[in-house]
Amino acid sequence: MQSSYFRKNIEKMVGYVPGEQPQDGEYIKLNTNENPYPPSPKVLTALKEAVNEKLRLYPDPSATAVKEKVAEILGTRPERVMVGNGSDELLTIIIRCFVGKGDKVVYPYPTYLLYKILSDIQDGTVCTVDFHEDYSLPEEIVDKGGSIIFLCNPNSPSGTMTSVDEVSNIAAKTESVIVVDEAYVDFANDNCLRLVDEHPNLIILRTLSKSYSLAGMRLGFAIAQEGLISGMMKVKDSYNIDRLSIAAAVAALGDQETFRENVAKIRGTRERLMDALKKLGFSVYRSQTNFVMIKCANNFAAKDIYERLKEQKILIRYIEEPGLEDCLRITVGTEGEIDALLEKMGQIKHSS
Ligand SMILES: Cc1ncc(COP(=O)(O)O)c(C=O)c1O
Repeated sequence: MQSSYFRKNIEKMVGYVPGEQPQDGEYIKLNTNENPYPPSPKVLTALKEAVNEKLRLYPDPSATAVKEKVAEILGTRPERVMVGNGSDELLTIIIRCFVGKGDKVVYPYPTYLLYKILSDIQDGTVCTVDFHEDYSLPEEIVDKGGSIIFLCNPNSPSGTMTSVDEVSNIAAKTESVIVVDEAYVDFANDNCLRLVDEHPNLIILRTLSKSYSLAGMRLGFAIAQEGLISGMMKVKDSYNIDRLSIAAAVAALGDQETFRENVAKIRGTRERLMDALKKLGFSVYRSQTNFVMIKCANNFAAKDIYERLKEQKILIRYIEEPGLEDCLRITVGTEGEIDALLEKMGQIKHSS
């Protein structure tokens, strides 16, 4: 029998394992950082209108309407925007653009697990630098000679944020392409968008999956100087964004009021959750996202808490990766969901 049809690096690698996605709705789902609130009603209206005979035609290959809306809202130019089928697709496009066999892919650890998978697919060489204990960024990140540096900012799973000045310094000191993955930045106090003007090697990634409640539509975008964007456009599938996603994205971006209200609610609940978790005796990392990471004391095992909550139909994220064994990541849900979580966590704590 032929040993394998696959390239060696594909055969060796382990595929990405997404968080559990039960489809029956019986769980309180605090494991994959979705938004607990529904998308803008305008999205649902736009989708209904877009379900028409035009579906027989291919969509706009550049998703121009989305680019224009993003440019208007964020104060940039449509030529600096590229739209993707989720920001995950943009990460794939980026790595295909800049990383060949053996090229270094650099990022601080622990962070978004997909960066490693994408690098493995390209047969790149992963080169990580551990975050400091408090999740501040190690300076050595610039000295590794990466073709690319991924900075998830705010970071997942820690929820912590590296300052915009620090990111700017890194971008200035290196010739690597720097990808600032801002999937969660709408929940933070600052963002790196203004750095795009100064740094021709910088790409910002955003998504509508979290702050706009559209994880199910798959819509992300990249912002960078024109040279990078036009090069990246060569690598994408011709029609990567379908007609319905374009309609939904334009409507979601157009309803800034709903967006701001939902973000404000989540930020408020996040602060309450952080305080309550501290009172329960956990170490809580300063979150700038829609999730909170906690560290459990040694007699209070993280995996055990995850399993006991799951038995009670509450899903949070336990990440089986080195350095995260005693940590749990909890998505900020509605006030009611967080009440239920805290009640159960209190019971688990008192019974252990
Ligand atoms: C850090 C980070 N980047 C990117 C993504 C992907 O987002 P999207 O739904 O836009 O593909 C996620 C999703 O969880 C994420 O956590």
